[in-house]
Amino acid sequence: MTPDPFQPYILAGVKLKNRILRSATHEGLADESGAPLPALTQKYLQLAKGGIGAIITGYAGVHPVGKCALHRMLMADRDELIPAYRTLVQAVHAAGTPIFLQLGHAGRQTRSKITEFQPVAPSAIRDQFFNEEIPKELTEAEIEAVITAFVQAARRAQEAGFDGVQIHAAHGYLLSEFLSAYSNHRRDKWGGSIENRFRIIGEIFSRIHTLLPEFPILIKINATDGRKNGMRLPEAVLIAQRLEEAGCAAIEVSCGVDEDKFFTIRSERNPIDAVFHYNFKVHNAPAWMRPLLKLFLTRAFKPSLPSRMYNVPAAQAIKAAVKIPVMAVGGIKTLADLQAVFNQDAADLVSLSRALILEPNLIEKFRTGKQAEAKCLSCNYCALGIESEPLRCHFGKLKIS
Ligand SMILES: Cc1cc2nc3c(=O)[nH]c(=O)nc-3n(C[C@H](O)[C@H](O)[C@H](O)COP(=O)(O)O)c2cc1C
Repeated sequence: MTPDPFQPYILAGVKLKNRILRSATHEGLADESGAPLPALTQKYLQLAKGGIGAIITGYAGVHPVGKCALHRMLMADRDELIPAYRTLVQAVHAAGTPIFLQLGHAGRQTRSKITEFQPVAPSAIRDQFFNEEIPKELTEAEIEAVITAFVQAARRAQEAGFDGVQIHAAHGYLLSEFLSAYSNHRRDKWGGSIENRFRIIGEIFSRIHTLLPEFPILIKINATDGRKNGMRLPEAVLIAQRLEEAGCAAIEVSCGVDEDKFFTIRSERNPIDAVFHYNFKVHNAPAWMRPLLKLFLTRAFKPSLPSRMYNVPAAQAIKAAVKIPVMAVGGIKTLADLQAVFNQDAADLVSLSRALILEPNLIEKFRTGKQAEAKCLSCNYCALGIESEPLRCHFGKLKIS
């Protein structure tokens, strides 16, 4: 029988209000230390009251070296942050909604100007987007420190009352760099075979489980990264099976790396004007070079298609290979899209990001039949703006403040 997406769902013992989650979305509403501000609680309360099944927070950094090049991101790298998270979680729980803290490390997808440290990666390969500097290849001891940072951040999440954590192993960040042979050229036990590329994630799961036996650990992975010799679905299926063995509570299936952000966050038309307005590389370029850059960017970034439901086929293939819940994200924008995912038995859960920025109450509108389609235009200005300002919807028109 086709499940009703609006009925409650039990995920690793946590009762979700329904099968539709808010996918992790950086809001830029942390203070300088990385603690969530009251404005973030207000955003999450809008989502909670708007009928979302559960919230996955924006990405919280587990280590200062792994901070993203984004405006005011959340951090989870110090115990002093726990009280602020506790206040946030209590408010969201009071609204009857579970909340998971997403934990990540930027790896090579950041800039020393932001972190004050040289970016790190499995291998010293220059990122085509963040190409100001070559990342430092992590040593054994530094890999151990990264594992410890994830485990300690999970402990902080549990102490703050979160319902679980989601490990960010997608989109070209550090753990995704380890998984993909495109960015992991190591010849030691952390690179080469899938088993070796998966090892760092396996260690993180096993050590969190030892410390916090009942605490749910979700993960977000790429089914494909669109890179030469990079992640492809058959490997992602094998990784999903390893995650199941490692005791993962649910797998969210996504795609892409920051080198082509618009592969992850798809639309029919790329927002080149917003790239020009917001992007640090454009700002750094001399005036005479800008028209050439614009021409290059317009040609280089062709929209990745399809722009709707684009991870659903991969989620379906992964779901067929594991027994743990699988979540599909990416271009799910209508009630019919939602129903199609469940009618096809393509995923156990779905998650949305962009559509909820403009309409945090979209799910309630879907449930009550008031609206069948998100108003979001997928203009993607939101995704460019977060480099330098808090998250906002531009609704297809660059709003310059
Ligand atoms: C403004 C913005 C911020 C995002 N921040 C995160 C993040 O912190 N962590 C993450 O895993 N994905 C992040 N994403 C990606 C989304 O979670 C999601 O995978 C992607 O947008 C596709 O879903 P959608 O079509 O429903 O927007 C972000 C996307 C946008 C547009």
